[in-house]
Amino acid sequence: MADQLTIALSKGRIYKDTLPLLEAANIIPQEDPSKSRKLIIPTNHENVRLLIVRATDAPTYVAHGAADIGVAGKDVLMEAPSDNLNELLDLKIAKCKLMVAGPKEAKPHGHRLKIATKYIQSAKAYYAQQGQQVDLIKLYGSMEIAPLIDLADKIVDLVDTGNTLKANGLVPEEHIADISSRLIVNEHAYKTKFKQINDIVEKFRAAI
Ligand code: ADP
Ligand code: PRP
Ligand code: MG
Repeated sequence: MADQLTIALSKGRIYKDTLPLLEAANIIPQEDPSKSRKLIIPTNHENVRLLIVRATDAPTYVAHGAADIGVAGKDVLMEAPSDNLNELLDLKIAKCKLMVAGPKEAKPHGHRLKIATKYIQSAKAYYAQQGQQVDLIKLYGSMEIAPLIDLADKIVDLVDTGNTLKANGLVPEEHIADISSRLIVNEHAYKTKFKQINDIVEKFRAAI
C-alpha cells in the first residue's frame, strides 16, 4: 500500500496549467476547484489528494510537511525563501516577468522614489543591487492603481501580456526576473516517499 500523498496547488492559472501534468502522471482530480467549494479534493487514487490553497501559501504547506509536494510561482518562492523545501522542476507554466512599471509620463518628484508592491523582498533586493534608496509600500493587489492616485511613483509587479499596465496608462520600465511556476517538495517527504514522488517528477518532466 502506497503512502498518503498530498499536493498543494492554488486555483486559477496554476491549477489550470498543472492539470495536464497531473493527468500525464495519471492523477485525476475528482472535483473541479473552480466549481466546488471543497478545499481538499480527492483524486482517482485513494491515497493521493489535492489541497487548494492561496498561491502565496503553497510553499508554507510544503515546508511544514502538511503537503508533500506543491506548485508555486518563482515570484512567491523568491519573496519568502524556505529551508525545508526543494525546487525540483521548472514547470514552465504561469510564465510572466517581475518588472518595474510607471506612468507613461513620469511626474517630477522631490522625494525618494516611492514603490508600491506586493513583492517587498524582491523589490528591496533589486533596488539595493541598483544602489538606489527607495521607499517601499506594501500592497496585496491592484498595484497598478498606486501611481495613478499618487500613492507611489512606480510599482513592482508581474507583467504578462502588458494589458493591465496599458489599461491603466502605465509602461514597463525595468526587468527584474523571469517568472514561472516550480514543482516544490518537502525535503523529508522526498526521502521517505522517494519512489512515489520521483515517479510523479519523471512523468511531469516528460510532459512539460
Ligand atoms: P494570486 O491570487 O496570488 O494573484 P494567481 O493565480 O494570480 O494568484 O497567481 C499565481 C502565480 O501565477 C503567481 O505567483 C505568478 O507566478 C503567476 N502569475 C500571476 N499573474 C500572472 C499572469 N498575468 N500571467 C502569467 N502568470 C501569472
Ligand atoms: C496579475 C498581475 C497583473 C496582471 C498582469 O494579476 O498582478 O496585474 O496579472 O498580467 P497582464 O500583463 O497579462 O495584464 P491577476 O490577473 O492575477 O489578478 P489578481 O492577482 O489581482 O487577482
Ligand atoms: Mg494574481
